[in-house]
Amino acid sequence: MAQDASLEQPGSPEAARDRTEALVRELRRGVYAAIFRRRDIRNFRPDPVPDEILGRILLAAHHAPSVGFTQPWSFVIVRDLEPRRAVKQAFEQARAQNAALFSGVRRDKFLALKLEGILEAPVNLIVTCELGRFGTAVLGKPGSEPVEIYSTCLAVENLWLAARAEGLGVGWVSIISNDALRSIFSIPPHVLPLAYLCVGYAEQFPTRPTLEETGWAPRLALEQLLHFDSWSASGDERARRLARLAREPRSWGGIFPADRMPEF
Ligand SMILES: Cc1cc2nc3c(=O)[nH]c(=O)nc-3n(C[C@H](O)[C@H](O)[C@H](O)COP(=O)(O)O)c2cc1C
Repeated sequence: MAQDASLEQPGSPEAARDRTEALVRELRRGVYAAIFRRRDIRNFRPDPVPDEILGRILLAAHHAPSVGFTQPWSFVIVRDLEPRRAVKQAFEQARAQNAALFSGVRRDKFLALKLEGILEAPVNLIVTCELGRFGTAVLGKPGSEPVEIYSTCLAVENLWLAARAEGLGVGWVSIISNDALRSIFSIPPHVLPLAYLCVGYAEQFPTRPTLEETGWAPRLALEQLLHFDSWSASGDERARRLARLAREPRSWGGIFPADRMPEF
């Protein structure tokens, strides 16, 4: 109760402490640095991940927002090589199916990409989502939208960013059938294996996404994605101005020194 009351008083010592510029600066720089320097990692060093660091990133995932505070996630920590070999086999099968969607040069390009680090990474993690963990009546779920899945994706992003802050790389491998994951890891039918993640120290964190670097896909321009007041108004002068402002070094003054700006 005392804590709630203090939060309501803008002049309280707690509120003043939270407003101190040093804390805000440190937080802002850290959060933005983790966001812009996070990458999907497919090449790992073999060094083990200390348990206290693994614990920290899992706790960060567990503190993600979730619909109705349902916390629908669980985490399967995989270190054994045997199940990972089975996952790698399932990946190869799914990769062949995925490759069949493309043709010609695009297909060759797809097949040349390294899209997983299942055996190299010292730890693999499965982030699961249990729909209806606390029954069907969920605060924040008036219809049938899979809001528990949205929540679990946020847990993955929390983990991904926390890992980046720890210098750890994470690679999401979705090119594996969920049936294969269920069977290899005895995951029950009501639990969805939402994300298969490879975790370990990265060989390097590329500045830009590998799929961008290799010419598979470009990053879309922010201005094309902004709509003002209605879907029909997009990509106009207001959008261009806002997107330009977002990229200008002066918008990041006090957060990143001019010579250490991330690549946008
Ligand atoms: C749901 C999801 C599934 C993904 N599956 C794969 C995958 O199977 N293999 C892979 O190499 N990258 C996978 N990725 C990583 C994306 O390719 C990557 O996030 C994107 O190219 C942008 O690069 P960045 O994460 O380095 O910014 C996946 C990402 C997400 C969010």
